[in-house]
Amino acid sequence: MSSFATLTNPVTLVTGASSGIGAEIAREAARRGHRVILTARRTDRIEALAAEIGALAAIPADLAAPGGVAGLVAELARRAIEVDILVNNAGFGQQGSVATIPSGLQTGQIDLNVRALTELTVALLPGIVARGAGGVLNLASIAAFQAGPNVAVYFATKAYVLSFSEALHEEVKAAGVHVTALCPGPTRSEFADVAHLDTTAAFRSASLVADPAAVARAGLDGLEHNRAVVVPGLANRFAAFGTRLVPRALSRRIAGNMQKQPPRS
Ligand SMILES: NC(=O)c1ccc[n+]([C@@H]2O[C@H](COP(=O)([O-])OP(=O)(O)OC[C@H]3O[C@@H](n4cnc5c(N)ncnc54)[C@H](OP(=O)(O)O)[C@@H]3O)[C@@H](O)[C@H]2O)c1
Repeated sequence: MSSFATLTNPVTLVTGASSGIGAEIAREAARRGHRVILTARRTDRIEALAAEIGALAAIPADLAAPGGVAGLVAELARRAIEVDILVNNAGFGQQGSVATIPSGLQTGQIDLNVRALTELTVALLPGIVARGAGGVLNLASIAAFQAGPNVAVYFATKAYVLSFSEALHEEVKAAGVHVTALCPGPTRSEFADVAHLDTTAAFRSASLVADPAAVARAGLDGLEHNRAVVVPGLANRFAAFGTRLVPRALSRRIAGNMQKQPPRS
């Protein structure tokens, strides 16, 4: 039995827990007996969810802001909370061409999806490894498997998350620590509205847009079994695997078309 399985009521920190997939991961983790800590910028949302699921704590933080991650880590230390499972879920995207999206929205994705995820992992992983049990669940995306014209920075950040997570998975498995990259396809949440992707082919077909609760279950199951990469849903697995079979030029063109805004009528 892996030491991960010996964890009873692990302390699980979920970033981006105020909506969508993060809120569902928090609910599912609480159902599985985890002591959950919620973080996001919207205090009212995480406090309401904390009351609903009986969470250990709700700690507001802007993880993209300078000092945001350090402030959260300091608050955990002040409360003497040791995190067993880190769920790096907070993230956002932005539709549009690199030449037209305001600079701050582009670097902001790197700040949250890449820098904050890395900084939080670097801060909390040593404790998890020293205790010899626990894990990290990182939200990548099927966007991680190819370049994405019209959402270029977002796709690139998710390629980083996938690569980083797979490497980490190998580094810490001998220590009994699990690491999983969760790679959902289009999923019902606030993401598409925030990213202005709601009218694109990727999100228009309701039958292809996944239930965030199912994505959350797949992620936590994958982490429990220490699967390096989890792609929930057959169509998404087909799409992710398909990128290995077609030339890169074709897969990036298909991805670009899926992320294009339809012409205004
Ligand atoms: N939905 C999809 O189709 C899809 C597909 C593949 C991967 N993903 C990934 O799944 C993850 C969760 O996204 P979602 O779909 O659940 O989207 P969502 O509903 O928009 O949730 C995003 C979460 O991130 C938090 N967040 C945003 N900016 C933040 C900041 N500066 N500091 C701290 N927290 C911040 C938001 O909370 P506040 O606004 O309260 O801070 C919210 O809780 C993301 O990493 C996303 O890239 C989503």
